[in-house]
Amino acid sequence: MGIRVLVSGANGKVGKEIIKGILADPALKLVGAVGHKNGIGEDVGALVGQQPIGIQLSPDLPGTIRRTHAEVVVDFTRPAVIKNNLKAIAQNGAHAVVGTTGITEVDIAEIATFYEEHKVNAVISPNFAIGAIMLLKFAQQAARYFPQVEIIETHHNQKLDAPSGTAIKYAETIAKAAGKCNAEQTQIEKVPHVRGGNLEGIKIHSLRLPGFVAHHAIVFGGLGQSLTLKHDSISRESFVPGVLLAVKKVQELEGVVYGLENLLDL
Ligand SMILES: NC(=O)c1ccc[n+]([C@@H]2O[C@H](COP(=O)([O-])OP(=O)(O)OC[C@H]3O[C@@H](n4cnc5c(N)ncnc54)[C@H](OP(=O)(O)O)[C@@H]3O)[C@@H](O)[C@H]2O)c1
Repeated sequence: MGIRVLVSGANGKVGKEIIKGILADPALKLVGAVGHKNGIGEDVGALVGQQPIGIQLSPDLPGTIRRTHAEVVVDFTRPAVIKNNLKAIAQNGAHAVVGTTGITEVDIAEIATFYEEHKVNAVISPNFAIGAIMLLKFAQQAARYFPQVEIIETHHNQKLDAPSGTAIKYAETIAKAAGKCNAEQTQIEKVPHVRGGNLEGIKIHSLRLPGFVAHHAIVFGGLGQSLTLKHDSISRESFVPGVLLAVKKVQELEGVVYGLENLLDL
């Protein structure tokens, strides 16, 4: 038995880790895997470096949901396709757990209405690493006393978007907790944009380098002191426990939940 799970983006860097996590969890049953171009038709067990499991990577998300009677679809694909995928998941009667970034607040509102109409639920989170969620909580506390803050996020050099969805969420949450943040202005900027981007009065700096996975540092400055809160995802396995937790809870929720923090007792 177990919850019937389909992975979309199954041949991607995160998708492969999710597949391995599902295969190792007796409470879950992998029923399907969807990709785009690479690896179509190949056995998914072999794609993740394990024994063949008799499930082939399909290019057809709606058809695979219907054929496999998937209850939950996990999606780690691309910002450009996530809205379409989310709609296809709901239209075919499955719940969604989405890690794909690039979803705006406007998209979330639209998706929430769509999911309500189709009577299915979703957990959408820009970060599924539980430590990164704890960092958000600690930053909320610190922001009450240190409203001057900058965020540095570092990712691998193939990441499509900048800043990271997580950095955006940190900035929005800190700004709310602090009341108001005013980024320090520099009088003479010798190199354009050298002070980073400005979101809600908080400077964000995005680094893209090989050798990194996903790293966030929130640096608070105060009178005669500074406080740095930092989280590092050193491998993509770091996202698996949070995703599997969401897969197990999504059917009991009501509608769309944005942020893994809403599923944790913090
Ligand atoms: N929320 C979190 O905790 C978290 C953590 C890490 C990453 N992310 C996000 O998750 C997404 C995936 O990251 P990644 O590093 O795994 O990227 P990736 O390695 O490029 O994987 C993306 C996969 O999606 C596939 N794909 C593209 N279009 C598709 C479609 N229409 N249907 C199904 N599959 C499709 C691609 O297949 P082809 O190669 O054949 O084109 C590729 O295998 C990104 O948006 C990233 O920012 C989120």
